[in-house]
Amino acid sequence: MRKLYRKLELIRNPLTSVRKNVNSQSGRVLSDRKWIIPFFASLLVSITLFLSAIFGLFNTPNGGDQLPFDIISFARTEDSSGYFVESDLKKSFNTSGHASMEAPRLAYLISGTKGDSHRMMRTLQAVYHPRNQYVLHLDLEAPPRERLELTNMVKVDPTFREVENVRVMAQSNLVTYKGPTMIACTLQAIAILLKESLDWDWFLNLSASDYPLVTQDDLLHVFSNLSRNLNFIEHTQIAGWKLNSRAKPIIVDPGLYLSKKSDIAWTTQRRSLPTSFKLYTGSAWVALTRTFVEYCIWGWDNLPRTILMYYTNFVSSPEGYFHTVICNTDEFRSTAISHDLHYIAWDTPPKQHPISLSMKDFDKMVKSNAPFARKFHKNDPVLDKIDKELLGRTGRFAAGAWCIGSSEGGADPCSVRGNDSVFAPGPGAKRLQELLKILMSEDSRKKQCS
Ligand SMILES: *[C@@H]1O[C@H](CO)[C@@H](O)[C@H](O)[C@H]1NC(C)=O
Ligand SMILES: *[C@@H]1O[C@H](CO)[C@@H](O)[C@H](O)[C@H]1NC(C)=O
Ligand SMILES: *[C@@H]1O[C@H](CO)[C@@H](O)[C@H](O)[C@H]1NC(C)=O
Ligand SMILES: *[C@@H]1O[C@H](CO)[C@@H](O)[C@H](O)[C@H]1NC(C)=O
Repeated sequence: MRKLYRKLELIRNPLTSVRKNVNSQSGRVLSDRKWIIPFFASLLVSITLFLSAIFGLFNTPNGGDQLPFDIISFARTEDSSGYFVESDLKKSFNTSGHASMEAPRLAYLISGTKGDSHRMMRTLQAVYHPRNQYVLHLDLEAPPRERLELTNMVKVDPTFREVENVRVMAQSNLVTYKGPTMIACTLQAIAILLKESLDWDWFLNLSASDYPLVTQDDLLHVFSNLSRNLNFIEHTQIAGWKLNSRAKPIIVDPGLYLSKKSDIAWTTQRRSLPTSFKLYTGSAWVALTRTFVEYCIWGWDNLPRTILMYYTNFVSSPEGYFHTVICNTDEFRSTAISHDLHYIAWDTPPKQHPISLSMKDFDKMVKSNAPFARKFHKNDPVLDKIDKELLGRTGRFAAGAWCIGSSEGGADPCSVRGNDSVFAPGPGAKRLQELLKILMSEDSRKKQCS
């Protein structure tokens, strides 16, 4: 008994002073055998303290985590639905996933920098369709004169003026290559598109050096048959040695707080790897469903916001933000199709930037079955070949069944607008369907978010 008592005393160092008093007292009364009561009393106190210490020891470090964890697991049980606001919000996942009979609509962001306004305009015209929505963003490096010029080009186009589906972002952002300001800009464009137009199904982002390889009729026709909850986002998990080199460095994007563009800064400190979510990386070119971007923008679940803040100091955040959010959310994981819908060629071994495509790449581009390709030099001759052979673009826009005017004497058939839910799919639709067949196969779906 006394041995155990000593042991207890040794273990609970901080309480020795209290127990010393108890101890000396019990020693004094030992002779007249009245020690029994105080001894058991102190033993009881010690055991209570001991147990509570052990209980505390195993609980305190996790205490912070355990509380929200309990709430989450509770919220996920069936009977709790209705008590928590989250269960109501989760129902909203279902509302826009409905198999609408109407043909889909796409929302495009086309972004560029200084000197890109004419290329942006060309890309815009090549992907234009009256069903779709377009936002153009010319970053802060471009002089105000160029932004004005771009706005004017949009304003004077009679079709854009009539349909009112092309917008130039008046507020232009300082965008740092590989920095979080790029993500901020993309999120802002999505927010504008969500606010301005109630019905579109997919968000796609293009740059001035991107170009389509199929007509919008091809794309819309093939997407009509597609489940409206599929996200095209090329992704892989960051694992092994790559984790240390990708996730530990901390960067600061001066574009967040300086008014002049400068490169990202690297800190000497490194941070530990995240344990509450897994990291994914992939292509910065994405086609995301409206449901998924609503989840990211509105942020009623905290994960998209937490990950956004985490990615503030992550190098190349545009290649990881949406990827990490989608693969860490149960409701969306199975909707991630690992392809960016682009043909992009790299050197072997890959350099920082992809190869600029030219005439010699034409066949490879077509064979890839991808609906878009990048990157192209301004007015590269291969773009004319794409216009002529793949897009049937003779006037302003690529060919489409909505253009019902006469093309006699070089007139623009798109100056007369027909029914925009009628499509005239061509060979591009067949190619795209081939690609989708592969992407939808069991084999590809098995690799989702792994
Ligand atoms: C969403 O719809 C599916 C089937 O249509 C249903 O099983 C599921 O419970 C729904 N989810 C929510 C959160 O309502
Ligand atoms: C969107 O497109 C631009 C092209 O300007 C690209 O650089 C960016 O990283 C893309 N992705 C995201 C998630 O912003
Ligand atoms: C859509 O799916 C139906 C049935 O699976 C098929 O008959 C039709 O050809 C498809 N249309 C397109 C455009 O893929
Ligand atoms: C446009 O075409 C669709 C599909 O063929 C048809 O359902 C719709 O009624 C047409 N709209 C008009 C205004 O003709």
